[in-house]
Amino acid sequence: MSRKLFIYDGSDLTFSSLKLKDQVESYQNPVWIYKKEVITERIDWIQSWKGLGRLHYAIKANFHPEILKIMKDKNCGIDAVSLGEMKQAIKYGFVPQDIIFSGVAKSEAELTWAVENEIYQINVENQSELKKLIKITEKLNKKVNLGLRVNPEVDAGTHPGIATALKDSKFGLGFSDAIEALGMIQGQKNLILKSISFHIGSQIMNVNVFEKAIQTVKPFYAEARKNHPQLDRLDLGGGLGIDYHDADSDVDHSRWKQLEAIYTKELKDFGAFLLLEVGRFLVARSCVLISRVEVIKKTPSKNFLMLDAGMSLLMRPSLYEAFHQVLPLEKKSGAVESYTVVGPICESSDVLVSDFQFPMIEEGDLVAICDVGAYGASMSSNYNLREPALEIFI
Ligand SMILES: Cc1ncc(COP(=O)(O)O)c(C=O)c1O
Repeated sequence: MSRKLFIYDGSDLTFSSLKLKDQVESYQNPVWIYKKEVITERIDWIQSWKGLGRLHYAIKANFHPEILKIMKDKNCGIDAVSLGEMKQAIKYGFVPQDIIFSGVAKSEAELTWAVENEIYQINVENQSELKKLIKITEKLNKKVNLGLRVNPEVDAGTHPGIATALKDSKFGLGFSDAIEALGMIQGQKNLILKSISFHIGSQIMNVNVFEKAIQTVKPFYAEARKNHPQLDRLDLGGGLGIDYHDADSDVDHSRWKQLEAIYTKELKDFGAFLLLEVGRFLVARSCVLISRVEVIKKTPSKNFLMLDAGMSLLMRPSLYEAFHQVLPLEKKSGAVESYTVVGPICESSDVLVSDFQFPMIEEGDLVAICDVGAYGASMSSNYNLREPALEIFI
């Protein structure tokens, strides 16, 4: 089956049945347009998995209050990687017991806040963090629930900029370090090992690597339980990818179903409370960034389409060569031409996409940059002191 998110109705681009031209009339460009239903549908897919303990939303993907409201209404927890993200979650209605705190270089202040507030779980990524926690819990005379983030060393086949489980990764503990960490925790009355956690990367399209990771982590979990009887959670991380070349809800759904089948096969009788930390898969498809063609410049070797939105708003293409479709809001008839689409920022790397085919397009036309709900607005900056773009929720 096929359920495309971007369809031309005559010459007008629709996004999940919204005629974009009608939506953007009253806003100044660039503007982010979100469709909430796209998010709720995906939460429902994942929460319908019978084996799931709790879905935690990786807030780094997008921390907008409207998105947090959706997550809260759907009874999701939060996966945060900084004090700022934890405070944002609290500000918009979550309680500390909803929060998993991940991240490679947590500061003493961040860990102190997490211990004081008795959050659900701190995912420890290295031994220095454990040492800090021993001191903090002693000083505060408080206990803390830990997840041990292990690195199963599987190559998720994703861009190196978003891979987190390669052998030399800064993320997580290799198994020999993890065994040492288990020993450190065992002697400490305030440190309670509740979870083994892993997260092998982002934008993963080959779901079989999740199976490999689970198979690698399961024996470690069993071993750890021998001396840590309170260990009863397995945190499977996030990372499920989407096809940025083809926005099709049915294809996304079947990719999730493939992953669900793997989780079920591997973990059906495992006995642990299963956690997920999903970001991109929930929110990426929910948003388009509408931008205006400011300049068309043709050189002997290249045609440039210069937009009023660039890397300061959407950093992913410059950061790790990520691809986003760019579709005109109005499809005009005329010869198709190839353009390199760039932004207005004073950096040569402000390239959105190279050699992209457009139907007839002119200065002043509006385009939609697709699938920008995850790691879009949350990564944007005001570099070049450009005005922030409005975020509109429908
Ligand atoms: C620890 C952790 N959990 C979850 C996620 C969410 O990943 P994704 O957005 O690919 O689902 C990330 C992002 O990289 C992460 O670092």
